[in-house]
Amino acid sequence: MSDKKLRSYEWFGKNDKMGFVHRSWLRNQGYPNDYFSGRPVIGICNTWSELTPCNGHLRDFAEIVKRGVIEAGGFPLEFPVTSLGETIMKPTTMLFRNLAAMDTEESIRANPLDGIVLLTGCDKTTPSTLMGACSVDLPTIVVPGGPMLNGRFRGECLGSGSFNWLHKEMQTVENYTEEDIREVEIGVARSAGHCMTMGTASTMACMVEALGLTLPGAAAIPAVDSRKKVMAQLSGRRIVEMVREDLKLSKILTREAFENAIKVNAAIGGSTNFVIHLTAIAHRIGLDLNLEAFDTLGSQIPLLVNLKPSGKYLMEEFYYAGGLPVVIKELAPVLHNDALTVNGSSIGDNSGKAQCYNEEVITPFATPLQEKAGIVVLKGNLCENGAIIKPSAATPALLQHRGKAVVFESIEDYHSRIDAPELEVDENSVLVLKGVGPVGYPGMPEVGNVDLPEKLLRKGIRDLVRISDGRMSGTAAGTVVLHVSPESAVGGTLAMVQNGDIIELDVPARRLHLDISEAELTRRKAAWTPPAPRATRGYVKMYIDHVEQADRGADLDFLKGGSGAEVSRDLH
Ligand code: FES
Repeated sequence: MSDKKLRSYEWFGKNDKMGFVHRSWLRNQGYPNDYFSGRPVIGICNTWSELTPCNGHLRDFAEIVKRGVIEAGGFPLEFPVTSLGETIMKPTTMLFRNLAAMDTEESIRANPLDGIVLLTGCDKTTPSTLMGACSVDLPTIVVPGGPMLNGRFRGECLGSGSFNWLHKEMQTVENYTEEDIREVEIGVARSAGHCMTMGTASTMACMVEALGLTLPGAAAIPAVDSRKKVMAQLSGRRIVEMVREDLKLSKILTREAFENAIKVNAAIGGSTNFVIHLTAIAHRIGLDLNLEAFDTLGSQIPLLVNLKPSGKYLMEEFYYAGGLPVVIKELAPVLHNDALTVNGSSIGDNSGKAQCYNEEVITPFATPLQEKAGIVVLKGNLCENGAIIKPSAATPALLQHRGKAVVFESIEDYHSRIDAPELEVDENSVLVLKGVGPVGYPGMPEVGNVDLPEKLLRKGIRDLVRISDGRMSGTAAGTVVLHVSPESAVGGTLAMVQNGDIIELDVPARRLHLDISEAELTRRKAAWTPPAPRATRGYVKMYIDHVEQADRGADLDFLKGGSGAEVSRDLH
């Protein structure tokens, strides 16, 4: 490739005043002449932050990627983008996913970059950076940071997140002391890396591998395994070749790639957050992926991976059993096997030789853990634009259920009343939580799987039907209807539900119904007034004004699609 074909030539290749300026200031870091003449410039987009614990090792990983870039004749330049620490940021990282995507997009476009390596880990750091990269559409490879080692507590394996959902139960029923809890805290966070259940971070890593955006087998390698470093170095080498081959994101992210990802997500028992993120990514690359596709393509796919929260094991076992290439090979009869990946080979060729080393962790397609595992899309007067449920994580007996609504107008209302002795709630009740959608909260937090009332926990009840316009952590389970659209804050039917109304959930029939008359519903809608907006200035105001509903991926309306890699005006 001649210098002029590189995008970075426009910065470094010219002998005029600005060419001098672009090169000279960078040279304060000690780069020799030849770095500016024909080497592809590789941007290493790093989501490292001490405030994002799951990505704490990525600063070192960037150096390993750079080794590979330099070996292949490239010029690596690392840059930071907004990082999103799931367990730290308030009110929710989802509020800032689109901000991080904007940051990534503009950082890539404005700089002299020919190819991109995305260093990702914690939940939102993968979709946000990928959304931004899609809107520029340069050759891009993802290096997923990898999961933590398995949690260990008193001789038992413990998955990240899983204890969170037992916390209340452990304190109220099992009488765990403060000391016990402290011991669990460190026991479930034993090493660098992200959550090691099949939560959202692991799901996102598998998603990018299934889309063809990582080297084969990258998703499951634990963060502290030396093979993760090898993968990072090889990714650095490969991105330089991808620039020379002009292998852009849009050549890999075809409709077939998205369909593959949906099927793989079903087989691994992936997080419900997958739906909202994949939809947003598809819209950035110019594909119209609708909610129904997740059901029609995914819901009939069997569950092959026995990982928490749907199953028993954790990401370490998944890796030792052969990781995602085994799943892709098992799914070969239903996948688009010729879909292209970043290494230049098809997904079918990459996984053709994969071997399963533990069929209890990854089962054969013919003898799955469950016959049908994917996410189901519900429709009905309670969710005109749709809602989702993950049946593999639900209680089978509750998948067809009629019950009286116990309504909470906000998450604060829920916390103040859920354990009140006078609360009328029993095992047939349906907990309804409003005000936790994209506009209403704002930012659509992971609160859909609210804890059960203490008095029911003491009776041994472990699940209730729960319905909200929010999301659920990928590490959580239960009969939880999520992403109700339109949300309550914009006047969706959810806003009209009152205590004691009968709600009917029928998962096999894909139905979610509020059992009141049309006339009554019309009357309630006419009397409804929208809540006051939660912000009047800054990014949050812009978010509230422009965020789309969950079924459209909750991106900002003006960010869909892309603007390419062109910069229309120069620096003078
Ligand atoms: Fe970062 Fe779970 S909190 S991946």
